[in-house]
Amino acid sequence: MNMRTQVGIIGAGPAGLLLSLLLAREGIDSIVLESRSREEVETTIRAGVLEQGTVNLLMEMGLGERMQREGAVHHGIELRFDGEGHRIPLSELTNGRTITLYPQHEVLRDLIAARLNHGGHILFNVKDVQLFDVSSHQPRLQFVHEHEQMELQCDFIAGCDGFHGVSRASLPEAIQTVFTRFYPFGWLGILMQAPPSSQELIYAYSERGFALVSTRSPELQRMYLQCDPNDDIAHWSDEMILEELQLRLATRGQWQLRIGPIIQKSILAMRSFVIEPMQYGRLFLAGDVAHIVPPTGAKGLNLAVADVRHLAHALTLFYKEERTDLLEAYSTTCLRRVWRAEHFSWWMTSMLHRFPDDDPFQQRMQRAQLEYTVRSRAAAASLAENYVGLPFEW
Ligand code: APR
Ligand code: PHB
Repeated sequence: MNMRTQVGIIGAGPAGLLLSLLLAREGIDSIVLESRSREEVETTIRAGVLEQGTVNLLMEMGLGERMQREGAVHHGIELRFDGEGHRIPLSELTNGRTITLYPQHEVLRDLIAARLNHGGHILFNVKDVQLFDVSSHQPRLQFVHEHEQMELQCDFIAGCDGFHGVSRASLPEAIQTVFTRFYPFGWLGILMQAPPSSQELIYAYSERGFALVSTRSPELQRMYLQCDPNDDIAHWSDEMILEELQLRLATRGQWQLRIGPIIQKSILAMRSFVIEPMQYGRLFLAGDVAHIVPPTGAKGLNLAVADVRHLAHALTLFYKEERTDLLEAYSTTCLRRVWRAEHFSWWMTSMLHRFPDDDPFQQRMQRAQLEYTVRSRAAAASLAENYVGLPFEW
């Protein structure tokens, strides 16, 4: 069966779904192809921190109603080391900008509902997506849906299929450069049924490694522990996790970790990754397929949003005014922000984790950086401006 659309989008993650909605707002037709089921997309636990710009965009598009009701606005974060907490007043340092804690899968539920309610096409459970003729003016996608072989003819293809997606492979090797860094640690992430232990996120550096206290709702808390990336989660009993959290987060003050049943636990690898350029012919890459950051700076989802905002704008000017300059500049425009976020995420990661091969000198360097960040207003402001997110026009 043959179909046609203006923009064929691979992947119904934050990048693909938001792109389809941004395009629809400009009267541009798209079809989203997603390999997983709707249920799986809507329930997989991923990130949870939305930058001010991401929140503003969702609101402006009329997609922020539930986020406003159920999300939590935070005005600061805590950096904790040597048994003491130090607040970084994000809003005070950034002209009132904030972050919003609202789980990624809830954002996805809102985006999917909005797209389907307005008659948009999202095909879930598609198999074997293949890209053809991406360097021509009529690129095509072939895939299997409900046991039927399909072909989708497009003007453009947006590869929004995440780090393990297929679209990146359509960039000829001769034109691409890949940048990768693996970190010698992973994050053990848990969901705990407990009230929040803190009003704001806590990033803790300790001799025993990094710990992070985040939240999902008043009843559900998200926490992370630095661990060996090759560890088997089966080796971590709930008791061990709780004890390690207590030890790494211990303060000399009154603070106490509020605990409850752990309902989910898993280990994630940490890496930095960028492919350049993010475009070839009529194929445009957006989000995790083109770049990965370690989660320490909470940038992954927000970078995906910034990419598709640029892409939607560039496509709009192409269709409305036959302009190609923004499409041609897409990769360069996105990569400026991508590399800023790559640096910020690497910097936060390097400052807050114990490295297996570190020596006393490196530890003193980390401590000096932490102290500077919490004692100097200029240093704290730099962290804050990156954390709440630089303007889209960056
Ligand atoms: N065919 C169709 N769909 C695919 C394929 C494929 N071959 N491969 C992957 N997908 C789908 C995945 O199932 C997923 O739903 O593409 C989607 C990609 O979504 P994400 O991985 O969420 O990536 P992205 O939209 O770029 O979102 C940015 O930021 O918070 C971080 O990593 C986190 O997911 C987040 C990301
Ligand atoms: C999360 O809540 O999942 C989270 C928060 C902050 C981070 C990373 C992840 O830096």
